[in-house]
Amino acid sequence: MPGRSFPFPKSLYAVEDALRFFLFDNRDAKVLDFFSGSGTTAHAVMRLNKQDGGQRQCISVTNNEASAGEQAKLREDGLRPGDPEWEQWGICDYITKPRIKAAITGQTPEGQPIKGDYKFTDEFLMADGFAENAEFFTLTYETPVAVSHNRAFERIAPLLWMRAGSAGSRIEKLPEGGWAVADCYGLLTDLDQAALFAEAIHGKDSIRIAYIVTDDERRFQSVVRQLPDTVEPVRLYESYLTNFRFATGR
Ligand SMILES: C[S@@+](CC[C@H](N)C(=O)[O-])C[C@H]1O[C@@H](n2cnc3c(N)ncnc32)[C@H](O)[C@@H]1O
Repeated sequence: MPGRSFPFPKSLYAVEDALRFFLFDNRDAKVLDFFSGSGTTAHAVMRLNKQDGGQRQCISVTNNEASAGEQAKLREDGLRPGDPEWEQWGICDYITKPRIKAAITGQTPEGQPIKGDYKFTDEFLMADGFAENAEFFTLTYETPVAVSHNRAFERIAPLLWMRAGSAGSRIEKLPEGGWAVADCYGLLTDLDQAALFAEAIHGKDSIRIAYIVTDDERRFQSVVRQLPDTVEPVRLYESYLTNFRFATGR
């Protein structure tokens, strides 16, 4: 990471070599790294894409842990995890996000071109960056009551987008008219609007998923019958809680 020290980074090139074994022939692969730390895997995926014009995606998940030495210092200063002054030194905020942004843009966080070349398989200026996109999301904990009253839809919105392939536009707010269609998925919240919704879906070949919000299996099936076979119907319960309860195990 230009300008920021990070102990024990993995070799970008070793990770790239390991991924190439599995992904050489799969240019649309999705790589999931649950303990991604400084983001070396995502960086290596971008290099592979550049080498063969691939469109592989990488989902990197990490906590925002500060290093042990840093934690001791922060505690001495009377800070605790969760304090903004503590969190700013966490790996995700301090290293991973700036590193991925710097790799793509070819610029340091201060806006200077990164000095140096990539090595081995393909050598080019780090300042060239990559023709890639990245989005950063923060996992939050929502109160069940907010979710059940649909007040937390904006927090859930990225999950629907990711489930549909993390591509194209996103439905960020509950649609006022009872339905909305993005580039790769649609969302129906008012089943009385099913006919209009189905018509919009039929008009768009890029749609992969239709999310249908209802507690009623029969009404769900009647909407499904109106949709093209190429679209995967996914039922979201009215409270959304049932869909997103997997994390709590309850
Ligand atoms: C061995 S490091 C990964 C190193 C990474 N390959 C790299 O090059 O930076 C594992 C990372 O997982 C993170 N981590 C630990 N517990 C976690 C958890 N429960 N959920 C998500 N990430 C976690 C740690 O902060 C650490 O940065």
